[in-house]
Amino acid sequence: MKSRCYCEISLSAIAHNVQEIKKLIHPTTKIMGIVKANGYGAGYYEVSKVLLENGVDFLAVATVKEAIELRKKNINADILIIGYTQKEEIALLEQYDLIQTVVSLEQAKQLQYSNIRTHLKIDTGMGRIGFLYRDNQKDIQDIITAYQLLQNVEGIFSHFSVADSDDDLDIAYTKNQINLFDELLQKLEQQSITFKYKHLQNSYGILNYPELNYDFVRPGILLLGAVSHSDFYNQSNINLKPALSWKSRVAQIKWLDENSAISYGRTFITNKKMKVATVTVGYADGYPRSLSNKGYVLINGTRCNIVGRVCMDQMLVDVTNAIVEVGDEVVLIGKSKDLEITIEQLAKLDYTITNQIFCAISSRVERIYYD
Ligand SMILES: Cc1ncc(COP(=O)(O)O)c(C=O)c1O
Repeated sequence: MKSRCYCEISLSAIAHNVQEIKKLIHPTTKIMGIVKANGYGAGYYEVSKVLLENGVDFLAVATVKEAIELRKKNINADILIIGYTQKEEIALLEQYDLIQTVVSLEQAKQLQYSNIRTHLKIDTGMGRIGFLYRDNQKDIQDIITAYQLLQNVEGIFSHFSVADSDDDLDIAYTKNQINLFDELLQKLEQQSITFKYKHLQNSYGILNYPELNYDFVRPGILLLGAVSHSDFYNQSNINLKPALSWKSRVAQIKWLDENSAISYGRTFITNKKMKVATVTVGYADGYPRSLSNKGYVLINGTRCNIVGRVCMDQMLVDVTNAIVEVGDEVVLIGKSKDLEITIEQLAKLDYTITNQIFCAISSRVERIYYD
């Protein structure tokens, strides 16, 4: 029986999205599947498995713990940890045959006596982790020293910060990131420093800069058939299939008189006699509390507005115009008869990106997989 709150995840949709990404990228470029944060909420293991079955043989996560979760479930593919790993966890990298991103000379020194496989991370404009290689900060000595200290450097990569924008300055910024990365690769090559794997593009790098031809692209959000935001720049004609729908249940239905207060803080007062349903999802499940009095759900093909504050485990919706019974399915993301709430619509309403909504769906929400 389906529980009070659950996600339905289509494995064939993920497989389809992999094929769609392949259509965009250079034929010799491969996909590194980004499955951090529990596969953006869709499940580390299940997403990884479907990726591996569909020609993706390289995965990436953010933390050692995430990578170990995969290893414990017999995922034997290459796994790059794209985040920082603390000194204390280095032994685990060896134990589980993981590939570590190296972001600084200091970190290279910590890893120098091991044979751990590594990728160097270059900061060409994101300002986050990585060796600096930016306009006016082009000293490459630390990179060279790190390369020499490390026993097993396989890759080098950087990360875009505004590949999702069509603003002229942002496009110029992204192009400059590409130029900086290429220039650095050239300078290193002149010193006989070469890399088996070079990679730069995240999802929007794939959508908007598909002509690039590095060894890997690193899509995350596209795998789930979503873009980060419907208003962001996407010049591609990619045909994504949404892989995740999110559903809940009606727990109780009651008629409230005009002038009745609803939920914490009495932020909603009925202006008419209103049929209200209690729905079994709340912010502890990851539903955004900011959608109090603002969001909506679908019940039996009718749009029903959220009334009052979203609580921890429950929320209330106006079902005056809906045909509804206790136990009915409530669609938070997905289709209900002719209507649909997309992840992009939900994210936009919450002034955020789809990535955040997906990652916030909490562990107590059941995941149900189908083909
Ligand atoms: C280094 C790196 N590469 C790739 C990705 C995937 O990003 P997206 O989900 O936009 O494809 C991320 C996600 O944050 C990242 O940090």
